[in-house]
Amino acid sequence: MKIAFFDTKPYDRQWFETVDHEGLTFKYLEAKLNADTAALAKGCDGVVAFVNDNLDEATINHLYDLGIKIVAMRCAGYNNVNFEAAYGKIHIVRVPAYSPYAVAEYTAALLLSMNRKIHKSYNRTRDFNFSLVNLEGFDLFGKTIGIIGTGKIGKIFVDICKGFGMDVIAYDKFPIPDPTIQYVELDELFKRSDIISLHCPLTDDTYHMIDEESIAKMKQGVYLINTSRGPLIESQALLKALQNRKIAGAALDVYEEESVFFFEDRSNEIISDETLSLLVALPNVLLTSHQAFLTKEALENIAKTTVENLKEFFEDRPLTNEICYEIKNHQSANGCEHKINGRCF
Ligand code: NAI
Repeated sequence: MKIAFFDTKPYDRQWFETVDHEGLTFKYLEAKLNADTAALAKGCDGVVAFVNDNLDEATINHLYDLGIKIVAMRCAGYNNVNFEAAYGKIHIVRVPAYSPYAVAEYTAALLLSMNRKIHKSYNRTRDFNFSLVNLEGFDLFGKTIGIIGTGKIGKIFVDICKGFGMDVIAYDKFPIPDPTIQYVELDELFKRSDIISLHCPLTDDTYHMIDEESIAKMKQGVYLINTSRGPLIESQALLKALQNRKIAGAALDVYEEESVFFFEDRSNEIISDETLSLLVALPNVLLTSHQAFLTKEALENIAKTTVENLKEFFEDRPLTNEICYEIKNHQSANGCEHKINGRCF
């Protein structure tokens, strides 16, 4: 079976070629998937896509017209897929968990770097500037961290923060029965937290959950971390709050409009997104290019699960990791309640 592999990067190719993928040949494409590039899948039997590909109705219909019946997302999030358009036409599978440790540990790395300004020290000492002025941080011990979303990644991050001796409070729309997690209402979390870290998915509910109104409820000088999805934060409101120091610092691995810029070398371009340019230029912002997932364990698991997802489809087996639009709250187990032979339709 021939599979069109969109938005390929060297590390993807390396791992997909390394894992056993007998019966599958990948056509590696640099282009991101959208309605214009869908035609590149002509002659293929399936598609592999990633976080910044655009699987809207037009793209889905185009792929379907080409005879594509399976799209394997090589990621956990699926906010970029129009499930309603895909239902009955194209099965969508994903990698529900490849290494929650990769993302949780990276969140800790961002927290430490942002606080202790390690990225700044690194640049200074490379220039033989050994001054410590403006590098002051704070002890994490005893500080209150508010974690929004206590799923696979959030729960691991809760445990990491406890290791630092932090007071951990959490909010989740669907809290897990775990007596070690202190759940509070969202407003209380905003009010009490010295640091807030986002680990919930992007849904209609969570879109712009950090906006002017919620920022107003936060402590003066709060720190914010987002390793989940960019549109959880309204960028203009964040920028304003950073400029007036209501938010003392932000560590962002994701950005609202990242699909236009991230994962590519844009160092020789004039960036057209003014908000992004201003955020990057602020001394209290640490921004990385959606790399929290990037460990070798995660990449290997992504490749293995995606290959297995595709094999399940082509061998007419139940689809373990299928998701469909009937999952209204987008957080429950994979698959809908109306499975036919282990498939959504
Ligand atoms: P998960 O599905 O295990 O956990 C998500 C949690 O959020 C669940 O406990 C759910 O109940 C909760 N939730 C749902 N709606 C909510 C709401 N309205 N308010 C508060 N909580 C809500 O997902 P997992 O694996 O922990 O991943 C979390 C997110 O991390 C993903 O949705 C994805 O967007 C992001 N991610 C980012 C990566 C990166 O490289 N930066 C890599 C992988 C995931």
